[in-house]
Amino acid sequence: MSKDRRLFVCVKQKSEVGEDVARALKKELKQQGLKSQVIAGEKWRTQVQTCNCLDLCKQCKKGPGAALIVYPEGTVYGNVRPADAAELVAEHLGRGHVVKRLHLD
Ligand code: FES
Repeated sequence: MSKDRRLFVCVKQKSEVGEDVARALKKELKQQGLKSQVIAGEKWRTQVQTCNCLDLCKQCKKGPGAALIVYPEGTVYGNVRPADAAELVAEHLGRGHVVKRLHLD
């Protein structure tokens, strides 16, 4: 049985940045081969999901990028732009490291 990890990306901005971020994350997951991985002997599947407001609007609607939350860890990122997708996927999903420059406490 596999476990699910989901990246919820807000798409409630006036611009298309949230949709662009979601597309970039999906592309990077595929390119980096991390849609499915084994961590500590357990199989994990990762999916990107768009959603409405995450109540992080200062880091989303008023900034240049989108807010997103990674579950099940509950890690929150703000002002994420499509250009950040490669680093987010490699560091957070690949190496298990939070990307501090985008992380919201
Ligand atoms: S508009 Fe994106 S978090 Fe509120």
